[in-house]
Amino acid sequence: MQTDLSPRREIGVFDSGVGGFTVLRELRAMLPTARLRYLADTAYAPYGNRSPEEIQARSIAITEHLVECGAELIVVACNTATAHAIDALRARWPALPFVGTEPGIKPAVAATRNGRIGLLATPATAASARLRALIERHATRQEVVVQGCAGVVDRIEAGDLDSPGLRDLVNLYCEPLRRAGVDTALLGCTHYPLIEPLWQAALGPNVELLRIETAVARRAVGLWTPFLGEEPALDIETSGDPAILGTWIATVLGWQGLDVQAWQPASRNGQHALTV
Ligand code: DGL
Repeated sequence: MQTDLSPRREIGVFDSGVGGFTVLRELRAMLPTARLRYLADTAYAPYGNRSPEEIQARSIAITEHLVECGAELIVVACNTATAHAIDALRARWPALPFVGTEPGIKPAVAATRNGRIGLLATPATAASARLRALIERHATRQEVVVQGCAGVVDRIEAGDLDSPGLRDLVNLYCEPLRRAGVDTALLGCTHYPLIEPLWQAALGPNVELLRIETAVARRAVGLWTPFLGEEPALDIETSGDPAILGTWIATVLGWQGLDVQAWQPASRNGQHALTV
C-alpha cells in the first residue's frame, strides 16, 4: 500500500466506443476503490474500418488526454488499437505502463481438441501484422481461421444487440468457422462479448467461445498498487454524444445516473485524424 494521496492518480481505459466496457466492468469489480476514467472514441468508431495511421493518431490523442487527467496506467481495451497503436504508445510514453488487449491465441491452443481454432475480429485486427505474428508464435501446429467482421461493431454501437439483421451478419461471419470445423472460437474484439449468445447460436453448442477481457483486467490489477485513502471514481467521456452514450450505459450495463462528459482532442494529432 502506498501513502500517495494524489487525488488525480487514476487508471485510464479507452476503446473506439462501448466495447471496452466489457473490460471496464471487470476492472471495476476487481478494483472497487480505484479511480477509473473511460474514454469512448464514439465519433470515430468503428476503428476496424480505419487505417493504421488514423487508429494511431486517435490512440495518441486519447492517451495524451488520459495522462493529463492523471492516468498512471493505460488499458487499451480495444484489440484494433492494440494491433495498430500500442507500439507507438509505448515508444512515446516509455515510463508509462500499458495493458493491451489481444486475442487469446495461447489459451485457444490449450483449449482446442481438434486443432482448429476460429478467430472473429474487426477487419483491421484481422489484417494486422501483429495478429499474424501472434498466431505464428503460439499456434505452430493448429489451424487458425481468421474472420474479419465488418459492420458488427456499428450495430452494437447503435444499441442493436439482437436484431434479425445482426443475427444474419453474425451467421455469415461464422460460416467459414463452421465449414472449417473449429471447436474453439475467440472473440477478438471487445464489443463482441456484448452479443455472445448470438455468436454461440451461430457456431453451435459444441464450439467453445473464449473471451479475453477478464485476463486483461487481471493484468491491469497486477500492475496497479492501491493506495491508502483512495476514493473510488468513475469518469466517462466520449467524442460522440454524451446523452446517447449515457442511455446506452444505463440500458445495456444497467449503470444508472452516470454523468458522461464530452471530449474532443486538443492536440493537432487528434484534430488531424478527425479530418482524415
Ligand atoms: N472494440 C474494439 C476492438 O476490440 C474496436 C472495434 C471497432 O471500433 O471496430 O477491436
